[in-house]
Amino acid sequence: MGWKALVVTVLLTVAVAYYVYKPLPDAIEKPWKLMMLDALFRSMMHLGFLKEWLHLSHYISSVKSPMENLEGFVTSSESKGGVIPGVKFTDTTFAGVPVRVYEPPAGGEGHLRRGLMYLHGGGWAFGSGKAGAYDSISRMISDELNCVVVSVDYRLYPAVHFPEPFLDCFAAAKHFLSPEFLARYAIDPERVAVSGDSAGGNLAAAVAQEISADDGVPVKFSVQALIYPVLQALDFSTPSYVQNQNMAVLPRHTMVMFWLQYLNADPSLLPQFIANNHSASRQSALTPELRSRVDWTVLLPPKFKKNHTPLVVEKGCPEVLKKVPGLLDTRAAPLLAEAAVLAKCPRAYIMTCEYDVLRDDGLMYAQRLRDAGVSVSVEHLEDGFHGAFGLINWPMDFEVGKRAVRSYITWLQNNL
Ligand SMILES: *[C@@H]1O[C@H](CO)[C@@H](O)[C@H](O)[C@H]1NC(C)=O
Repeated sequence: MGWKALVVTVLLTVAVAYYVYKPLPDAIEKPWKLMMLDALFRSMMHLGFLKEWLHLSHYISSVKSPMENLEGFVTSSESKGGVIPGVKFTDTTFAGVPVRVYEPPAGGEGHLRRGLMYLHGGGWAFGSGKAGAYDSISRMISDELNCVVVSVDYRLYPAVHFPEPFLDCFAAAKHFLSPEFLARYAIDPERVAVSGDSAGGNLAAAVAQEISADDGVPVKFSVQALIYPVLQALDFSTPSYVQNQNMAVLPRHTMVMFWLQYLNADPSLLPQFIANNHSASRQSALTPELRSRVDWTVLLPPKFKKNHTPLVVEKGCPEVLKKVPGLLDTRAAPLLAEAAVLAKCPRAYIMTCEYDVLRDDGLMYAQRLRDAGVSVSVEHLEDGFHGAFGLINWPMDFEVGKRAVRSYITWLQNNL
């Protein structure tokens, strides 16, 4: 190799290493693996943005297909090998919404089974309940809990915005809870759960609230199991948003971008949102009462407040709340629900990760539900990061991911 080639190789290596390297907290196991995963996501996004900038395609479509290939690669061995051969699935629609129904191996005659509706994550823009680890986990739940699992493929950005994804999930939930469906699948109406992770946790919490308050739905969810749910968009300077603003997998600007997309807001508002200018205190729509529902200085345990100070902007950008009405809609931001609504909600399991911008959303919701008299179990993973739940299949497996799934299934075993 000539010296020029050597110089180019060294420079390229340095550039790649610089791109891949991201300082991670000491508690993260296999940091190199998480760095690679993060770099993979980032490169897919960057390539997507580039193609959009060149007017070739919407960035979402260029990110989707490599992501699906990746998920297919990770799950293919398991699905083909039939690790859980007894579970069968059917692809169908509930009120026009595509769903996959997993049925456990036939139990004894006359025995009712549990039911669980699962809403996958992916920033309201990516993912499918049929793909990747979601498929594996639904099979595990169905098999281990003798449970009929319904995984919902609600519509995604950019095809739709809020409230469409919520309305899809709500319609699917009503169908799932109908006496006809429960009877046909031999599901015990007293043992039905709604669950989801990340953006799916947002939808699960919102659906649980709406169903609880809807007198037209006779059967209610018995439990809600929320994995690092997204619950509010008024404060992007909670201690967890500040602490994890550059954390792998879900940095703050990506989460804020997902919110802007979901709420159909102008993408140029991103810096305003990050500065909390959209929730300035001098705005009549944002009453002190509403603000108190997202006040982490009151709602978080001291351990998580540390020495953080709240970022409350006085003047900010008052017109944003009018331009983006979803910000104050509890179907988009379930943490904003009033106590009377929360009081009717089912018993909750909330998983939070230390290294996740969404940690405090989950912890604040746990406190608000408890204040309203609802029983809540919080599983806080000290070495957890956003997206860990589901990282269980080789080569993208993490111990903390397997532990997360185990904890979740065990809680359901004991509480559903
Ligand atoms: C936030 O609002 C203030 C007051 O209107 C303004 O001066 C500032 O530039 C805004 N910050 C951002 C990041 O837009």
